[in-house]
Amino acid sequence: MAEGAAEVSAASDGGGDLGTVEPERGVAPIKPQYLTTKEQFHEFLEAKGQEKPSQDSEAVDPAGNDLAEPEAKRIRLEDGQTEDGQAEEAAEPGEQLQAQKRARGQNKCRPHVKPTHYDKNKLCPSLVQESAAKCFYGDRCRFLHDVGHYLETKPADLGPSCVLFETFGRCPYGVTCRFAGAHLGPEGQNLVREGLVQAPPVRNGLDKALQQQLRKRKIHFKHAEQALRQLSRGPLPGPTPEATVPEGREAEGAPGQDNCDSQLAPQEPDTVGPPSGPLRTFGPLTDEDVVRLRPREKRRLDISGKLYLAPLTTCGNLPFRRICKRFGADVTCGEMAVCTNLLQGQTSEWALLKRHPCEDIFGVQLEGAFPDTMTKCAELLNRTIEVDFVDINVGCPIDLVFKKGGGCALMNRLAKFQQIVRGMNQVLDVPLTVKLRTGVQERVNLAHRLLPDLRDWGAALVTLHGRSREQRYTKLADWQYIEQCVAAASPMPLFGNGDILSYEDANRALQTGVAGVMIARGALLKPWLFTEIKEQRHWDISSSERLDILRDFTHYGLEHWGSDTQGVEKTRRFLLEWLSFLCRYVPVGLLERLPQRINERPPYYLGRNYLETLMASQKAADWIRISEMLLGPVPPNFVFLPKHKANAYK
Ligand SMILES: Cc1cc2nc3c(=O)[nH]c(=O)nc-3n(C[C@H](O)[C@H](O)[C@H](O)COP(=O)(O)O)c2cc1C
Ligand SMILES: [Zn+2]
Ligand SMILES: [Zn+2]
Repeated sequence: MAEGAAEVSAASDGGGDLGTVEPERGVAPIKPQYLTTKEQFHEFLEAKGQEKPSQDSEAVDPAGNDLAEPEAKRIRLEDGQTEDGQAEEAAEPGEQLQAQKRARGQNKCRPHVKPTHYDKNKLCPSLVQESAAKCFYGDRCRFLHDVGHYLETKPADLGPSCVLFETFGRCPYGVTCRFAGAHLGPEGQNLVREGLVQAPPVRNGLDKALQQQLRKRKIHFKHAEQALRQLSRGPLPGPTPEATVPEGREAEGAPGQDNCDSQLAPQEPDTVGPPSGPLRTFGPLTDEDVVRLRPREKRRLDISGKLYLAPLTTCGNLPFRRICKRFGADVTCGEMAVCTNLLQGQTSEWALLKRHPCEDIFGVQLEGAFPDTMTKCAELLNRTIEVDFVDINVGCPIDLVFKKGGGCALMNRLAKFQQIVRGMNQVLDVPLTVKLRTGVQERVNLAHRLLPDLRDWGAALVTLHGRSREQRYTKLADWQYIEQCVAAASPMPLFGNGDILSYEDANRALQTGVAGVMIARGALLKPWLFTEIKEQRHWDISSSERLDILRDFTHYGLEHWGSDTQGVEKTRRFLLEWLSFLCRYVPVGLLERLPQRINERPPYYLGRNYLETLMASQKAADWIRISEMLLGPVPPNFVFLPKHKANAYK
């Protein structure tokens, strides 16, 4: 959205009262004394950034008073250290070229390095894990086996204490940890603090045996197959798809929508076709009928009035969700996972399902275009992971997803949509929820027509993002339409989503009668928004408090992604993704009128201290500097391009 900010600057105000001081339309109203020019802003950061670099990255005064603070005190960039690790994510040559064009002034001349270079001085895993007695690969092993030699080439530690060792009493990264000094004995042995040792508490990991079975397609989806057989014979009670598809909608849906099922799931070419034949309403009780009763035993989902942190691809990772939970988010959801990737046992896709113990009301979100794969995936998850609900992403605007008939495209493919909802609902013990947009095209609202169907098909709750696919983030979300949809969905609860950045926004949203609100970019700009809503106040948070939040994020990140070089750099990349949103937050004390609005682009301003100014920078080079304050210097040849800029969520 850093980029989207410019896009939305021309947006209409949506009828709000702007008060007496009205700066340029679409620009956040900052007190004149803080305003500056682009040139002065960057000159200021350049000049101060070069002052007194120091090794001490922790030298920020946590209780500092922003207003009184001398400007240069807080920035401490580490220097002198070199690191052998390389940028972990390599782009294809063409991609890199394009990326360089886009990344004006952001490390653009540095070459990109393949991720395998990380491995050059990598210690053999058999020596990292003390449990492994000898190297599995023997002579063919390409990793180092001499710990002494490894330590000679290993870059310096990034800090004196290891968050994994502190939290769990044992650091699984041993000598490879970038904070290893905290837990290596005199002979280089990995120390363990007896009494503290506990297994990392994250749930929903992918079991190796299950992964093998998935890869070999050895899993039998009994319930899904039953449900799909039943659905292929005819729709269950409720409106028939034909009756609810407005004219021409099915036809204008995604291309190739009906001939892809067999491609996606070759083992099941014929299970799902368009509903045919009349409803079976009599005859002996069959297995299918018994399956059909299952929804009655379903666990309930009662989240009315709760604050729901939106699913956020890339940014809504587990460490970020922990931050939001701490600030009062009630409901959290994993990043969108592609159902076919889950069915193939892909490690990276399964990682999106992980749940931290603090996530007490947690769901996962799936994307898919076809009843067979979605229903099978639902059965798989029902058996293997612990969640409170499963959500279908019918709001996803991404081209790749849309063209296959998934995401938003399902809003125009009612027959498939119905089968997906009914099929999944039947095999899940937990409630099924759906996330929608207003529609695909800007002026063609579809949600109100779909909601009664979704209710009848068994959806427990729907979240409506008040924008169409075409609209992206260019205009404000249509809360009047959301209000209209509340009635159409009733008694099924409807959550509203779009543009909430203050407690006033949340209050206004709740007046539409929605069961609750979902918050996405608002949480990225200021995760303490949940606290603000609960306490009905504006929080003039200081830059050092904000840095503390980022530091906590890096600790959670090291815990989650690892504290070796790879884990540190992964943590850094996710931090940088987040910083690309955070820079749009305007501190309360600088505003001429409250609250900040999400469609207002911040002008160039100097904050109340150096750090506050640095945090307002939209330049990747400055985000990198912030990351260096928390995670040490970036590896040589480091390039950062926000992922979300490459996809539709901007
Ligand atoms: C970076 C980013 C990633 C997103 N990823 C997802 C996603 O995985 N699934 C989804 O349903 N919506 C996703 N969205 C959309 C949001 O959940 C939300 O519907 C939208 O941003 C509108 O809410 P907001 O105005 O509070 O930002 C994403 C949005 C952003 C900005
Ligand atoms: Zn080895
Ligand atoms: Zn460690």
